[in-house]
Amino acid sequence: MNNPPNGRPPAYRAVITGYGSFAPAKTLTNDELGKMVDTSDEWISSRTGVKVRHITSDNESTAWLATEAAKKALAQADLDAEELDIIIVATITPEMVFPSTASFVQRALGANRAWVFDMAAACSGFVYSLAIVQQFIESGRYKNALVIGAETLSKITDWTDRTSCILFGDGAGAVVLERSDDGQKGIIYSTMHSDGDRWEALNCQAYGSRHPASRELDDPKKVFMQIKGREVYQQAIRRIIETINDSLDACDLTLDDVKMVISHQMNARIIESVAKRLELPDEKVFININEYGNTSAASVPIAFDECVRTGKIKRGDIVILVVFGAGLTWGANVLEF
Ligand code: UT7
Repeated sequence: MNNPPNGRPPAYRAVITGYGSFAPAKTLTNDELGKMVDTSDEWISSRTGVKVRHITSDNESTAWLATEAAKKALAQADLDAEELDIIIVATITPEMVFPSTASFVQRALGANRAWVFDMAAACSGFVYSLAIVQQFIESGRYKNALVIGAETLSKITDWTDRTSCILFGDGAGAVVLERSDDGQKGIIYSTMHSDGDRWEALNCQAYGSRHPASRELDDPKKVFMQIKGREVYQQAIRRIIETINDSLDACDLTLDDVKMVISHQMNARIIESVAKRLELPDEKVFININEYGNTSAASVPIAFDECVRTGKIKRGDIVILVVFGAGLTWGANVLEF
């Protein structure tokens, strides 16, 4: 899905006016993981960049994380929840099968005017959701939107599988987007892609209609995430580079114009490899996987929040948000913050 910004500019733009993130207090270090499975801080740090991840307790859930991040974003935007027209929660670890996680967030925030739903596009969910909101705001239909990426991946992690449990963590990030008609740029381009032929590369198979809870699983491991790490690694580098180049071309930009590329935090080596191949200088690449692990749909909004709060991106800066994940799915948003 593309909306080339080179044509007639839309009358309205979707501008990010609020941002926030939240992670559970409990953490799990690489050394602690080394006592659970046959691994080490040295292996995890050098192969992934992860040092520590946040993990929810038994009584902490995705909607709670999402709500806490959303409250921060609304406060930052100085917007009342009742003013929201739409709430999308990007997640693959929803509160329950139904209703949507977004329903619980709506209730907790008192966002009575909004219609709400979840986006199940794995690590690409946040960027996909921004693209949807962009269309509704540019068309003039809506004024105010809340997009959240929230995950409790620890709850679908096989803590005996060292090839996957080292990667993931829990957290949430949120942004408020408002309609602007006064020349502020906001989101200027979105590009989204999917390849269902490669669904097996990353999945969690139970309990959907193919493997319902009413039937015994042929393999009990199907309740956990399963990843083909090497395949994902190679595809991710290829697709992220393609997507960044496509975004630059479509927007008539070069990397010199871009202040920051905020990539999904899937593995520091993947991000560094992309940066090297694109000749992106270190100061234009943001990495915080060391503190959070891979938080799927939450990783880009958590990183965005941190970039703004630490002054790495400021109003007027061009930023590319780029993602890759299960589906397979990938995509990017280009925005003038
Ligand atoms: O957001 C989308 C989801 N993200 C992903 O799917 C992640 C993408 N893939 C990756 O990040 C990397 O492929 C991994 C971090 C998952 C794995 O790193 P790798 O460099 O591709 O390692 P590998 O799977 O090729 O394994 C290399 C070796 C193997 O041993 P041998 O066969 O060479 O003796 C593994 O058994 O490392 C071993 N190994 C480990 N050793 C210590 C695998 N996991 C571990 C571990 N600790 N945790």
